[in-house]
Amino acid sequence: MKVEPLAVLGGGLMGSGIAESAASAGLPVIVRDVDKEACAAARARIEGSVGRLRDKGRLTDARFEEILGRISYTAELEDLADADLVIEAVPENLELKRAILAELVEVVAPEALIASNTSSLAIAQLASGMPAPERFLGLHFFSPVPVMALVEIVVALRTSEATREAAEGFAVTIGKEAIVAKDRSGFVVNMLLVPYLMAAMRMYEEGFATAADIDRGMQLGCGHPMGPLALCDMIGLDVLCMVCDSLYDEYRRPEYVPPPILRRMVESGLFGRKANAGFYEY
Ligand SMILES: NC(=O)c1ccc[n+]([C@@H]2O[C@H](COP(=O)([O-])OP(=O)(O)OC[C@H]3O[C@@H](n4cnc5c(N)ncnc54)[C@H](O)[C@@H]3O)[C@@H](O)[C@H]2O)c1
Repeated sequence: MKVEPLAVLGGGLMGSGIAESAASAGLPVIVRDVDKEACAAARARIEGSVGRLRDKGRLTDARFEEILGRISYTAELEDLADADLVIEAVPENLELKRAILAELVEVVAPEALIASNTSSLAIAQLASGMPAPERFLGLHFFSPVPVMALVEIVVALRTSEATREAAEGFAVTIGKEAIVAKDRSGFVVNMLLVPYLMAAMRMYEEGFATAADIDRGMQLGCGHPMGPLALCDMIGLDVLCMVCDSLYDEYRRPEYVPPPILRRMVESGLFGRKANAGFYEY
């Protein structure tokens, strides 16, 4: 399937990474965010990330310009009209995502594929009542997107075989490896990862060990590249809290209940790296 252009809805942490990965693989990309300021922030995030590769000598100046030249930014949804694939990466909130998708289907072609990067919401719920539900699917990327190889392709009950195949082709085109998961909250990776992260938070909350020792324990004892609390800070505690709520809604298992410290930190604006403070100061 030809993806020219790819449209990305939301140029935050994930949307910027998706745009950068696709542009690095040669695809034209259009990023839509809410207003000029948010578009400028997305541009700065992408330029910073690609710029770091150039500064490390991993990209030439020409390649740097080429990648950035493939990405355009807009605050107007109508500018996404020609997209063959739209990947939605707005905040993890069902009402917000549904409202944006309802506007989007009025703008794009009926055969354009529509993917959500949701971490925990059901694709069926996002696509419910929308025209042509067979073209909806989940494309769940991992942070930082330009570095992480995996994308989970989430196939909902009404996602067509052609949509799934096109998504697999797209993953290969942008240099990712795909695994396929059913439309269940958490898919494969978060369903396994989140109980582990919550266990680390509970351990910290109970004063069992310091954040640094919990993290070093898992790095040095299990060979993990990053400890669980540093990983929580990287994912974003606000995002994690919403993911826990969705997982608990779906399965009603105590391992998905956010511990009190997670809610208190989110309420206090301690979102992790993006707020320069979480379990660690940045
Ligand atoms: N953070 C992670 O590690 C991670 C990993 C996988 C998936 N996800 C999922 O990706 C999605 C985005 O997460 P994020 O961490 O990038 O969030 P973020 O807060 O960094 O970015 C969200 C972006 O969406 C924009 N936005 C809000 N309303 C919009 C609208 N109406 N139209 C266009 N843009 C709009 C915001 O301005 C912001 O730039 C969520 O569904 C999240 O669950 C996150």
